Amino acid sequence: MNHQKLEKNIALMGVTIALVISVAGLVEILPLMFQAETTKPLEGVEPYAPLQLAGRDVYVSEGCYVCHSQQIRPFRSETERYGHYSVAGEFVYDRPFQFGSKRTGPDLARVGGRYTDEWHRLHLINPRDLVPESNMPGYPWLAKEMLDGENVELRMRRLRALGTPYTDEQIAAAISVVDGKTEMDALIAYLQGLGLAFPRGRY
Ligand code: HEC
Repeated sequence: MNHQKLEKNIALMGVTIALVISVAGLVEILPLMFQAETTKPLEGVEPYAPLQLAGRDVYVSEGCYVCHSQQIRPFRSETERYGHYSVAGEFVYDRPFQFGSKRTGPDLARVGGRYTDEWHRLHLINPRDLVPESNMPGYPWLAKEMLDGENVELRMRRLRALGTPYTDEQIAAAISVVDGKTEMDALIAYLQGLGLAFPRGRY
């Protein structure tokens, strides 16, 4: 009887659906916020160094995530190609995370150390010089754009306010580390650090 009332009253039905979805959502999401597995960094995972942090911003602003994921799923076809599947503790300092949902290009979660810096430089300027069939765009201007040290310092302060444990010394050193470097240098430093805390064969 009560159920018939619910089914015939669209407003009541709407409110009840919203209520059920909200409660179910909270039940799924809230525990994740307190689980050590998702909030504690994996051993060896450190906050991004200033140059890598700047590179991460270049990665986001250039939209690399549109073609590249950074999340290896726990399937054999993936782990044999890319390495160990991704785990939550690797992404604790990623704000926001770069999981991505499209793979026009390969997953980059463990690309760190796979190529030399020079490979990345040439590849980013014109991918087809190294991979003739590539449809990745070139990003030659990154080699000319200089970084803004003060901006990186400010970002580190903001991240610290959100809980990333940067020390005063690290923040104070940011400007001198980043000064004179290009966006290309930063992006390469970021790519070379991806997945390194989780080398092949350790687990
Ligand atoms: C239009 C899609 C597209 C965009 C946007 C794109 N890529 Fe790619 N990327 C590819 C494809 C396809 C490949 C594979 C062929 C190749 O190596 O060039 C690739 C390969 C790579 C590789 C080599 C990966 C490996 O394991 O061999 C790296 C590193 C990379 N891209 C970085 C980037 C970065 C950094 C950006 C942003 C500045 C970016 N890509 C933007 C499509 C894209």
